Amino acid sequence: MDGSIDVNGTAHPVPDDPRVSLLDYLRHDLGLTGTKKGCDHGQCGACTVIVNGQRINSCLTLAVMHTGDSVTTIEGIGTPDQPSDLQRAFMAHDGFQCGYCTPGQICSAQAMLDEIAQGWPSDASPDLTGTIKISDEEIRERMSGNLCRCGAYANIVAAIRAVAEERGHEAV
Ligand code: FES
Ligand code: FES
Repeated sequence: MDGSIDVNGTAHPVPDDPRVSLLDYLRHDLGLTGTKKGCDHGQCGACTVIVNGQRINSCLTLAVMHTGDSVTTIEGIGTPDQPSDLQRAFMAHDGFQCGYCTPGQICSAQAMLDEIAQGWPSDASPDLTGTIKISDEEIRERMSGNLCRCGAYANIVAAIRAVAEERGHEAV
């Protein structure tokens, strides 16, 4: 098919098969296996990537629907030599055990902090206007689409909170 998808700053041709999910396109066609397949049904968040600045479940969307879009996967967020602030914080706070959910957690957290910076309220926000203050409740609510079978939730929240404070978000 015509067109390309920008993935981590590189243009890749759209797959010929229109049935291929964005998740399978990333993992199988491009070899970007950092994005994980958990449920393949939109329930676990392991496949979370960032498309045009917004987090989505890549198992629930077709690659061809993203012709011309800009996709960021965990490989585009940081590298082993140059980890991002969130990747460093997950290591510092032990925000994982097996690590299977971690790429999705970090992609989700990256976009989630941008949502807070843009003033998007959540169900846990005390009001719908004004600056959103970081709290454990805000983080838990906003990260509720990313499951962790190892139950590392307390340390995931701590890691995200630390980065939010480093980035200058007001915390309570
Ligand atoms: Fe996409 Fe579980 S693999 S939400
Ligand atoms: Fe194992 Fe989250 S670290 S599923």
